[in-house]
Amino acid sequence: MKDAAPQTIYLKDYTPFGFAVESVSLTFRLHPTATRVISKIRFTPIPDASDTRFFLHGEQLKLISAKIDGVEINTKMVVGGLEADVPDVPFTWETEVEINPQANTALEGLYMSNGMYCTQCEAEGFRKITFYPDRPDVMSVFDVKIEADGDNTPIMLSNGNGVELSKARATWSDPWPKPAYLFALVAGELIAHRDTFTTLSDKQVQLAIWVRPGDEHKCAFGMEALKKSMKWDEDIYGREYDLDEFNIVAVDDFNMGAMENKGLNVFNSSCVLASPETATDGNFERIEAIIAHEYFHNWTGNRITCRDWFQLCLKEGLTVFRDAQFTADMRSEPVKRIDDVITLRARQFPEDQGPLSHPVRPESFQEINNFYTATVYEKGAEVIGMLKTLVGDEAYSQALDLYFMRHDGQACTIEDWIAVFEESTGRDLNQFKLWYSQSGTPEVAVREAYDGTTFTLHLSQSSAPTPGQSQKAAQVIPVAVGLLNDNGDEILATQVLELTQEEQSFTFEGHASRPIPSVLRGFSAPVTLRQDIDNTRRAFLLAHDTDAFNRWEAGRDLARDSLLGAVLEGTPHNTAYLQGLKAVLSDETLDPAYRALMLGQPSQSELASELHKMGHTPDPAAIHTASEALRRAKAEAFADLLPGLYADNQVAGTFSPDAGPAGQRSLANAALSLLTRLDQGKTAAQQYASADNMTLQLAGLSALLDAEKGEDALEAFYDQWQNDRLVIDKWFSMQVMHAKPTALTKTVRKLCDHPDFEWKNPNRFRAVMGMLAAHHAGFHHESGGAYELLADWLIRLDPVNPQTTARMCAAFQTWKRYDQTRQTMIQGQLERIASQNGLSRDTTEMVTRILEG
Ligand code: TRP
Ligand code: ZN
Repeated sequence: MKDAAPQTIYLKDYTPFGFAVESVSLTFRLHPTATRVISKIRFTPIPDASDTRFFLHGEQLKLISAKIDGVEINTKMVVGGLEADVPDVPFTWETEVEINPQANTALEGLYMSNGMYCTQCEAEGFRKITFYPDRPDVMSVFDVKIEADGDNTPIMLSNGNGVELSKARATWSDPWPKPAYLFALVAGELIAHRDTFTTLSDKQVQLAIWVRPGDEHKCAFGMEALKKSMKWDEDIYGREYDLDEFNIVAVDDFNMGAMENKGLNVFNSSCVLASPETATDGNFERIEAIIAHEYFHNWTGNRITCRDWFQLCLKEGLTVFRDAQFTADMRSEPVKRIDDVITLRARQFPEDQGPLSHPVRPESFQEINNFYTATVYEKGAEVIGMLKTLVGDEAYSQALDLYFMRHDGQACTIEDWIAVFEESTGRDLNQFKLWYSQSGTPEVAVREAYDGTTFTLHLSQSSAPTPGQSQKAAQVIPVAVGLLNDNGDEILATQVLELTQEEQSFTFEGHASRPIPSVLRGFSAPVTLRQDIDNTRRAFLLAHDTDAFNRWEAGRDLARDSLLGAVLEGTPHNTAYLQGLKAVLSDETLDPAYRALMLGQPSQSELASELHKMGHTPDPAAIHTASEALRRAKAEAFADLLPGLYADNQVAGTFSPDAGPAGQRSLANAALSLLTRLDQGKTAAQQYASADNMTLQLAGLSALLDAEKGEDALEAFYDQWQNDRLVIDKWFSMQVMHAKPTALTKTVRKLCDHPDFEWKNPNRFRAVMGMLAAHHAGFHHESGGAYELLADWLIRLDPVNPQTTARMCAAFQTWKRYDQTRQTMIQGQLERIASQNGLSRDTTEMVTRILEG
């Protein structure tokens, strides 16, 4: 049997499978190198099916036997699976296959991590476990029996409810029909952190987080997050949990963040394990969000799933939107919004504006794993947010109720989703649907006019060509606008303008003096805004905007202009910005977390993108210098303020990861970072030495590294944490992040020689190589050494783990922004990767798209 050869799959070619699966019963005889999987599947031919071919997916399986209704049959091995002649009446299909979990380094299918068996089946991994119609529109109930020698695998878990659990055997039954991608099995030496949750209708659910011995003390926070998520989904969406138990397992070797398998969520250990000593506030917040995300999938993803993988955003966009709502409710709404927009601009915009640009619902792919992207997830969530803005909160709730009622148990499309909104609101959403099919980031330009009474906003939209899409139609863009007077009072509360044409004007009558608009409040649409306003206006909005997002945005725009001026013309940093920012920082009525965000500035990569759009060739070294200079200018301008900000935001008492204290720590640490530029690391050294939690310890270390005084602390940090994989990931990352641009490749090479650089572990690989790619000035250093180093490692990782390799190729997606010399060097590396023998389908697709886009 061969693996499927590169082949393009199209949305337009969708055809349903010709057979229904009534039930699946699986028996696993676990063995590290020779696991047997016995499947018994009830198939029913669907009358009048357009496709009657009986094809089952299967990859890397050794077929031992195949039977139909108990009789041994002949099968025909074809690319990517097998075919067989089958009856035209219901029949029982039985196979026994052998697989080798130990040899599975791709971490897809059944594999081993630290002696523990685990699975990852989304998107198309179940076909590496047994022959099956491995497509999301084939749903069935599953019974699973797991057998093992009992010594190394005392705990054996699968989906649904545990039926019979003994030392050598476990039986699980999942009553909810599900597609194979939601199948999971975990077995090993695991310890449970247990709790219970009582649902809306008074049913008690047994909850457990399963971890390796030694990690028991890192489960409490995740468990609280789970219970909060269960309650929130009942309160806000009326969604109740539907099994007697809910299990979460932490796994060290995992390609992504976590996976929503029915009743048995599997997590990258970095996304669930946390203790105050080992996890930062950022880690805690992320863990809470990911636990919520996977839990919320139980309804948006599992009970209602996707018809085919082109519909991925149906579950992911909606579930990201739901987890963002949850975080906003648990913590601070404006802070969450700003965080999300920062991520969108850092991850989705470059994707949408480069060779990898694709619609929220793509129309073709070679390897679906390459489409778990910021566009599908984050832009997908923005699209839901716009829909909610356009129809209103009430109508959104009603539409969701209808969605859950109508489509429970089904595998659906974006058309189904849109139809629910059209029917429940009576609104025509044809134009809105373009958000799912048109790629690229629309640009909205704003012009103002005032005639003494009437104030007019002239809005226009345009969208640059993207791969495969040269012409774009106007989209529906909700533009939230408020008006202020000269004193900064809000004279018109936020209104949503619906921009539906290429150009449109909106008038506001009865204004005796010229109002000041605040446009795209709350970032009401994922667009770039071109507003021809000067820095005085921006400084005014920074001081007065009543919309927290736009107030932050005004500061961000000032910082960006100041940085661009410094890069292009060597102009000194903008004093109006620094003064305005100082006033915000000193305003104790403002949330510390919000003030900490205010201290941030656009990333170097974002500036490079901005320069490129303005028609300049970005110089990474100059951008780095200007960014550093702005930080120094802030340190100097705020010299009298920083010690107070730092001192006033120290949190006393027992550590709490809640938003309040976490916000204070983030402001104190932002102040520390600037303060370090003035006191040569004195405060940072004190903080490092006295820190009793990872948030303070890591910020201390980070500041010391910036001041080039981190050597001793680095060594001490390693000695202290050498037995904690997750903390050692941070130790690796920190050194890469804080390397001088000229020393980056040398630093990384040295780290790669470290005995703890277990490069086959995705977290460790990303801790080093992900940070290498994220270090803008170092990655794009004129020597090209970092390009070559990354390519070397991608070539090495590809045969081991194609999925993680392919994702990391995106580091090169911005290559056309840079000068000819750099482009030539990057092109050379991409072609070198592409020319490797046996390169995976995943990496081949990514490299080809980046080169050709
Ligand atoms: N469905 C998962 C989520 O968003 C993510 C996911 C997709 C995944 N493919 C994966 C996780 C492969 C791990 C490995 O929650
Ligand atoms: Zn998800």
